[in-house]
Amino acid sequence: MDKILFSMPGNEQLAKSISNGINCSMGKFVFHHFPDEESYIKLESDVNGKEAIIVCTLDRPDNKFLPLYFLAEIIRDAGADKITLVTPYLAYMRQDKKFNPGECITSEHFANILSSFIDEVITVDPHLHRISSLDSIYSIPTKVINSTPFISKWIKENISNPILIGPDMESKQWVSRVAKDADAPYVVLVKSRLGDKNVKVSIPHIHKYIDKYTPVIVDDIISTAVTMIKTVEHLKEAGAKPPVCIGIHAVFSGDSFKELNASGVEKIITCNTIPHPTNSIDLSEVFIKLLQLHPVKI
Ligand code: R5P
Repeated sequence: MDKILFSMPGNEQLAKSISNGINCSMGKFVFHHFPDEESYIKLESDVNGKEAIIVCTLDRPDNKFLPLYFLAEIIRDAGADKITLVTPYLAYMRQDKKFNPGECITSEHFANILSSFIDEVITVDPHLHRISSLDSIYSIPTKVINSTPFISKWIKENISNPILIGPDMESKQWVSRVAKDADAPYVVLVKSRLGDKNVKVSIPHIHKYIDKYTPVIVDDIISTAVTMIKTVEHLKEAGAKPPVCIGIHAVFSGDSFKELNASGVEKIITCNTIPHPTNSIDLSEVFIKLLQLHPVKI
C-alpha cells in the first residue's frame, strides 16, 4: 500500500526525518485558526487507497486533539485505507486511576476516543504505571518504541563513570534498562506527590559513588521538573557532582526548564519526542524501521 505522510503543525522536523527514511509522499493540507479560534482544515492530497501516516506529538493535547481528529476524518472520508498515528508523546497516560471519588480516569476515555478514528498508534515509552500495557485501554493495535538503548548509547558516549538515579519507583523500568546497557550502577528513590508542584523525593544513598561518579537522573517525563529539582537538591546536599538530567519526554510546563537549569545541573538532555532545545537523542530511525515493517493491510 502506498504511504502518504502528514505532519501536524510543530512536528515538521521529525516528519521530515521519517519521510527521508521511508518510501512515501508528503501529504498536503491547509490548516489555520479562524479569529474565534475554531480550526479550518482542507485536504489537498490524494489519499485514496493509501496508508496515511499522521505525525502529531500530543503534549499539551487539548488544543492539538481536535485538529488531529478533523484531519483524520477528512483523510478517511477521502478514501484512505489505513490511518496510522505517530505520536511520540502519548498524552493522558498519568491519570490512570480514580484517586478520589468523582475523578475521571482520563487515560481510558482518551484511549477510547483515539481508538475510534485511528487504526494504529506508534508511540515512545508511554507512562505505564498502574496500566501494564497500552492494549488494556486501546482497542486498536499499538506499537511502543523503547528509547532506553538510545539513552544508554548517549550516556556511554558522553559520560564517564555514570551512576544512574531514578527519582521514583515508576522510573525503575527505564533506569534499570538504561543502566544495564550502559554498564552502570543505579539507585531508585521513593517519591510522594502531594500536589502538582509539591513533591517529596527520598535521599539517594550514593556515598560510595560520590567522588568518582557523575550522577545521571533518568525519568520518563519532565513536566513541572519538580521531581528532577528535588533530586538535584538532595544530590547537592550529599556532595555529589552536578548531575546530568535525562528525560524521555520534554514536556517542560511553564518556567520549569529555566528552573531546572538554575538548580545546579550539569546538562539537560531529552529524546526528540517533543520538540525542545534539549533534544539530543534522535529516535527517528526506530520510527522508520517500524513504518517500513508495517504489514500491507490492516
Ligand atoms: C511520574 O510518575 C513520572 O514518571 C515523572 O516522574 C513525572 O511525570 C515528573 O513530573 P514533574 O516534572 O512534574 O515532577
